[in-house]
Amino acid sequence: MSQNVEFSPGHDKGGTPLVRAEGLRVTYGLTRALDGVDLTVERGDSIAIIGSSGSGKSTLLHCLSGLVAPSEGRVLCSGRDVNVMSDSERSSLRRQRFGFVFQFGQLVPELTAMENVSLNMRLNGVGRRPAEESARSWLRDLGVEELARRRPGEMSGGQQQRVAVARALAPGPDIIFADEPTGALDTANGELVLDLLIQQVSIRRCALVVVTHDDKVAAYAEREVVLRDGRVVPSATGAPR
Ligand SMILES: Nc1ncnc2c1ncn2[C@@H]1O[C@H](COP(=O)(O)OP(=O)(O)OP(=O)(O)O)[C@@H](O)[C@H]1O
Ligand SMILES: [Mg+2]
Repeated sequence: MSQNVEFSPGHDKGGTPLVRAEGLRVTYGLTRALDGVDLTVERGDSIAIIGSSGSGKSTLLHCLSGLVAPSEGRVLCSGRDVNVMSDSERSSLRRQRFGFVFQFGQLVPELTAMENVSLNMRLNGVGRRPAEESARSWLRDLGVEELARRRPGEMSGGQQQRVAVARALAPGPDIIFADEPTGALDTANGELVLDLLIQQVSIRRCALVVVTHDDKVAAYAEREVVLRDGRVVPSATGAPR
């Protein structure tokens, strides 16, 4: 198990951005997935990353969250370069300060919904009972409380996605990274998820970085970052922000 390094949110009080990416380049063979991207994420930000398929959106999200190391450039979290941290420091950082919502394969298949949602809180040192109470309340908010004892293989794709949202939000992350978080959901549940994500930004002053193809999803965010061929280009709704 990784060592439990504390990452204090207090580091950000002096106005240091939550995450700052500088000159990110990611190359896969001849493909430039990212070609010089700068982006700053501050408390209270909600940012939609949009662009056509293959433009580099997921790669950018993975770099910002320390899941992929850039070929060039750096990602600073509370002023520290996430790619010079040890693996255990980086996983502690992700567990304590980041929440992830991806479309597929992020729930642990052997664990029930309740265990999946409680897991990171337990690893962060929260006791079993408060972790389960919080997990139950998030499952309720997402309309999947009755699935608490089921494993992912016993749920639909949309139900798994809502459990994954509960899992991301329950520990109270500083930044929520979401890649097509409503891709498996009907309109009503998609709106429920987006409302909850945006509510968290305003209530807790965390930040949301959401990758989407869907203009309705992008409209929930305050800022839009448009990628084309791995570069940020001006947004159709105004100047790049
Ligand atoms: N692990 C990898 N190995 C090789 N090439 C990759 C890898 N990951 C991404 N790419 C390539 O990098 C480019 C950007 O991919 P990325 O997944 O970031 O696109 P995207 O904007 O998220 O697309 P989509 O909307 O289809 O999800 C694509 O050309 C893709 O084929
Ligand atoms: Mg993608």
